[in-house]
Amino acid sequence: MLAAMAAGTFRIAASILSADFARLGEEVRAVEAAGADLLHFDVMDNHYVPNLTIGPLVCASLRPRTKLPIDVHLMVKPVDRIVPEFAKAGADIISFHPEASEHVDRTIDLIRQHGCRPGLVFNPATPLDWLDYTLELIDMVLIMSVNPGFGGQQFITTSLRKLAAARARIDSCGRAVRLEVDGGIKVENIHQAAEAGADTFVAGSAIFGSRDYGKVMREMRQQIESGHAAARAPSASR
Ligand code: DX5
Ligand code: ZN
Repeated sequence: MLAAMAAGTFRIAASILSADFARLGEEVRAVEAAGADLLHFDVMDNHYVPNLTIGPLVCASLRPRTKLPIDVHLMVKPVDRIVPEFAKAGADIISFHPEASEHVDRTIDLIRQHGCRPGLVFNPATPLDWLDYTLELIDMVLIMSVNPGFGGQQFITTSLRKLAAARARIDSCGRAVRLEVDGGIKVENIHQAAEAGADTFVAGSAIFGSRDYGKVMREMRQQIESGHAAARAPSASR
């Protein structure tokens, strides 16, 4: 089952929400040099979530500063009118919350039409049922392990069950769909998310709150490998 998770396919997505915004360009360069695989870009609108962050203008100004794919996480309602703006600003992946879209299928299509990869995001209490008719259309499933809106929150452990369920659905659909986890990810718990089936790991405060971004990401990769190995081990030896 874990074919999609062969060694080397794990990705760490650094969430710039916890970066020093007064030095954002430098922070992005630092995290890229330190080994991040993706730049996670949290967009909050003070409507769908109770916080306000950054939009397409900031995305466009970071685009020429980094080679990393930009992983845009839209926490906005409505969704559709901002999608073309982010595509123009250089987004690679655009994920949105199905509750925030009036027409989920149409939003997925819109993201694809604008040349980006669509992802669907599940809040801690949102069931995976939305995947019934969308899994064949998207490139990423994002499981929130905190309620969206703020960095630095504590990991909600029920998300492990949801990750495992999403992993099973992705493996049986036969398409290369990424499984991302977002919220409260630290060196200490990342192996649990890896064992549950995640292959893409968002981390904000754990990286930007440390002195050595490279060291944190190296330790995270070791923990991911050990979680992955535990998932592959026969259950009797666990
Ligand atoms: C929360 C955001 C997360 C957040 C993660 O709404 O979607 O991406 O930045 O931050 P940490 O890793 O600090 O929980
Ligand atoms: Zn996010």
